[in-house]
Amino acid sequence: MAVRLGDIAPDFTADTTDGTINFHEWLGDSWGILFSHPKDFTPVCTTELGAFAKRKGEFDKRDTKIIGLSVDPIESHQGWKKDIEETQGAALNFPLIGDPDRKVADLYDMIHPNANDTLTVRSVFIIGPDKKVKLTLTYPASTGRNVDEILRVLDSLQLTADYSVATPVNWTDGEDVIIVPAVSDEDAKQRFPKGWKALKPYLRVTPQPNR
Ligand code: BEZ
Repeated sequence: MAVRLGDIAPDFTADTTDGTINFHEWLGDSWGILFSHPKDFTPVCTTELGAFAKRKGEFDKRDTKIIGLSVDPIESHQGWKKDIEETQGAALNFPLIGDPDRKVADLYDMIHPNANDTLTVRSVFIIGPDKKVKLTLTYPASTGRNVDEILRVLDSLQLTADYSVATPVNWTDGEDVIIVPAVSDEDAKQRFPKGWKALKPYLRVTPQPNR
């Protein structure tokens, strides 16, 4: 069964490169990102893990824990870690789940048999402090993910969790946002004291409220 937006992220206990974890306990009150890798010792995954490791400080600043998964065992991950550090110039600084029996991969529907019946696709799940799934992304094995895009959507999710706004196309942190249609002009006066520009009655643009 697919994991959908608004669902409680399925909980699990699994071995990782940092020891055994219970997922919900490990998340605590933080935001979390779970992402899958098709296989150990594969080139694109190696670059992705190095890139996430280099940017970990940016996830920390957003109170967000990151955790990877690959369906190979931990012993294999330990060997792969050395290659990641050697080739990407960054040591793995977050846990990588070993999932040889595909328990977690199946729970999160990360294997899409019509694409490949043994490798996972490149899934991304962003989970809020309430343990609900806020975003899902699915890439094929042949396409590496974009860390900037994941940080960008995280900024949008965290902003829109706190304010009655939505973020427009290609928005990045600090840019103007849109007042959601459910907020009346009367309400908007209280909520958005910096004012707004109404391009249409339904398209009201306001400065980012937490800046
Ligand atoms: C990779 O990570 O490079 C990869 C993994 C599986 C299939 C194709 C590429």
